[in-house]
Amino acid sequence: MRFQGLLQLRRLATAATLRQRHSSHIRTLTDTGTHTHGHTVVRTLASSASPLPELTQITDHVQRGNYATLNDKDVSHFEQLLGKNHVLTEDLDGYNVCFLKRIRGNSKLVLKPGSTEELAAVLKHCNERKLAVVPQGGNTGLVGGSVPICDEIVISLQRMNKVLSVDEVTGIAIVEAGCILENFSLRAQEVGLTVPLDLGAKASCHIGGNVSTNAGGLRVVRYGNLHGSVLGVEAVLANGQVLDLMSNFKKDNTGYHMKNLFIGSEGTLGIITKLSMLCPHESKAVNLAFIGLNSFDDVLKTFVSAKRNLGEILSSCELIDERALNVALEQFKFLNAPISGYPFYMLIETSGSNGAHDEEKLNQFISLGMERDEIRDGTVTGEPGKVQEIWKIREMVPLGLIEKSFCFKYDISLPLRDFYSIVDVMRDRCGDLANVVCGYGHLGDSNLHLNVNCDQLTDEIHKRVEPFVYEYTSKLKGSISAEHGIGFLKKDYLHYSKNPVAIDWMRDMKKMFDPNGILNPYKMLA
Ligand code: FAD
Ligand code: MLT
Ligand code: ZN
Repeated sequence: MRFQGLLQLRRLATAATLRQRHSSHIRTLTDTGTHTHGHTVVRTLASSASPLPELTQITDHVQRGNYATLNDKDVSHFEQLLGKNHVLTEDLDGYNVCFLKRIRGNSKLVLKPGSTEELAAVLKHCNERKLAVVPQGGNTGLVGGSVPICDEIVISLQRMNKVLSVDEVTGIAIVEAGCILENFSLRAQEVGLTVPLDLGAKASCHIGGNVSTNAGGLRVVRYGNLHGSVLGVEAVLANGQVLDLMSNFKKDNTGYHMKNLFIGSEGTLGIITKLSMLCPHESKAVNLAFIGLNSFDDVLKTFVSAKRNLGEILSSCELIDERALNVALEQFKFLNAPISGYPFYMLIETSGSNGAHDEEKLNQFISLGMERDEIRDGTVTGEPGKVQEIWKIREMVPLGLIEKSFCFKYDISLPLRDFYSIVDVMRDRCGDLANVVCGYGHLGDSNLHLNVNCDQLTDEIHKRVEPFVYEYTSKLKGSISAEHGIGFLKKDYLHYSKNPVAIDWMRDMKKMFDPNGILNPYKMLA
């Protein structure tokens, strides 16, 4: 049969899992050195190739809010509360500049509370004094939400990084907000559980940052979004009150589901300190297919077939177009693409409990796709090392684009039938002004990452791209943010996805939680 000649089908190796594939891919701006070291990519402010951006308050003409100005007495007070070592007043660039090096604030103070009580005391003081703050996790956010815009105090959750408990029986883990996602995953693995969230920034992002942005990632198609997996949160409110919404149950209908307010509220309503998460049991068998396709029509047919034929074992369905793949391959020579020469590639992962059964299903699905000429070529593997290598390709795509040159990044939800058309339309609109216009993303969740890469940010290209991208999305009744949130970069475009009544209610809620507006100002509803 044709697919036998084309596919390098590999047997399942061991019962080892996908989780073992994770080496560290990214580090935050606070690390040193820019290099590709093995498979680790490190970005840094020290890179001469990409200097610090101008202060955003100046470039974007931001009117500073009516907040107090930090003084020596405040700093001494914070030193008393947290200890001098956890009150930083120097070398703050890594906290002031966003991951994309697009937004730069001018904070003079970073505070690192070590407990909920310490954070509560800090916020109480800030609220009384009317000092503005920005909560910061791993600072991997892509919408400028995690850095100050003016001189807000940065509250870093870095020290609150413990996994407090993982219960093998219930599958419930309790974790502090500043725990790095990858560390959390490794800990869950120790008892045979899996954190139902996985994304390319896992080596740096915090679980609290993930919940605050309602991060999506690679497995939403299997585990759903965080509103389902997060069972409870603890958050400190602007006035220092501790709101305990922790829960150990999936089912809890005692009134409003308040924890959901904090999932995706981007640090504007409170600062998450702790959360409980439902972690499913690890899958014994994981297989990954990397396939090449000739058209987007074939991509859609293959997705439908994956849902129909793989059903309950389908755990990820990602798309990468040729241009996006090529950028990653150019930027990171250590990547090996198993096949080349197709306009579209899909990564289709299955996770199940019976290796032989899963393999049979996957082989059937691929044979069918090849017989119909929808799948043109590909690789299937169940070997953990190979699975890891292939996932690496997908995970390096965003970093490749960011490293290459200036990148406009969008994370839009679009109806599947219209999922890819915007990439071609945008390429025509940008013409020679752009180096690369490409698309990739979470096809299984209708979430496209449209990226426009150009030599530098100029008004001319900016105007070609925005607000067009939002108008286009809105006309199709999509969402202008499927996963990264609104932050600073999209605050002027919220109305493309939320109607005025909804925005008014959001503003009222914000006022109720944070009457002085000290929590993450200039973002989301600014
Ligand atoms: P930060 O960037 O520090 O903060 C993000 C927002 O949350 C800010 O508004 C901040 O104020 C707020 N915040 C942080 N911690 C808290 C807290 N404890 N309480 C209240 N507010 C808080 N995102 C996806 O959704 N899916 C992906 O697949 C994905 N892949 C990525 C791949 C790469 C290579 C990179 C660089 C980013 C990717 N992202 C992705 C974006 C980013 O990693 C996520 O948004 C992530 O959830 C941010 O976590 P963080 O800890 O870095 O938060
Ligand atoms: C991803 O899916 O890779 C991320 O959300 C980051 C990006 O948009 O590039
Ligand atoms: Zn994404």
